[in-house]
Amino acid sequence: MSTLKGKVVVITGASSGIGEATARLLAEKGALVVIGARRLDRLEKLASAIQATGGSVVYQQLDVTELEQMKTIVTLAQSHFGRVDVIINNAGVMPLSPLEALKINEWNRMIDVNIRGVLHGIAAGLPIMKEQGFGQFVNVASIGAYEVSPTASIYCATKFAVRAITEGLRQEVGSHIRATLVSPGVTESELADSITDDGARQLMKEYRRVALPASAIARSIAYAIEQPDGVDVNELVIRPSSQLA
Ligand SMILES: NC(=O)c1ccc[n+]([C@@H]2O[C@H](COP(=O)([O-])OP(=O)(O)OC[C@H]3O[C@@H](n4cnc5c(N)ncnc54)[C@H](OP(=O)(O)O)[C@@H]3O)[C@@H](O)[C@H]2O)c1
Repeated sequence: MSTLKGKVVVITGASSGIGEATARLLAEKGALVVIGARRLDRLEKLASAIQATGGSVVYQQLDVTELEQMKTIVTLAQSHFGRVDVIINNAGVMPLSPLEALKINEWNRMIDVNIRGVLHGIAAGLPIMKEQGFGQFVNVASIGAYEVSPTASIYCATKFAVRAITEGLRQEVGSHIRATLVSPGVTESELADSITDDGARQLMKEYRRVALPASAIARSIAYAIEQPDGVDVNELVIRPSSQLA
């Protein structure tokens, strides 16, 4: 039996892509999933699909840039299921563009969702996990947390930050709260849809021709959670085997 059975797992950005696939897989393995994102219609549909196959799920509309909303979903997990075992800080955006295009609103959106969103997840969950004496954060970064490429400076900067935050968290509270960084390579999802810069969109189209299914990342996340107490999978990097850089 999976050690995921009965674990209470909050997943941000669960309305599509990696978050959605992770919610499906973890619920299938017996986890009690609490899903959040801004698109409520998508969450409702996903929750119905999970319930139809016997899974346990609750959902809550969530904008991770708002600390109070993050606190609300984590509190919902605790009040509905009794505790919070795992928070998967997965929500992210990637409107790529060259720096000289000065798309400052898009830079700020990446900083707000990709960095502040993760910090809000930690701020909402850490006091509860400290009181419980256990818990796990799974923060979704990217191969962009390890290398930078043109048009992706700000996106990569946000993912470098997520990597630094996760490592710092591990060092500070790792004796009883696990901290895992999951860094996907190209994966099928809606992530590239937000690119407004023509050149960056064209580059990405070519770059994203070979992609992992989102279920591959979901399995990696499940692996990190399924490890026994005392085993903290610190970092996972998952690429399609033909993606060399
Ligand atoms: N796909 C890849 O190739 C790839 C590679 C490396 C890393 N990643 C990372 O994987 C994570 C998931 O992305 P994905 O690839 O699955 O893309 P996706 O299909 O676009 O999913 C992104 C999710 O984030 C949510 N989101 C965006 N802004 C939000 C906000 N302010 N508050 C709450 N939720 C928000 C979206 O839901 P709503 O719009 O409904 O809010 C959606 O559910 C991201 O952190 C991304 O950076 C993806």
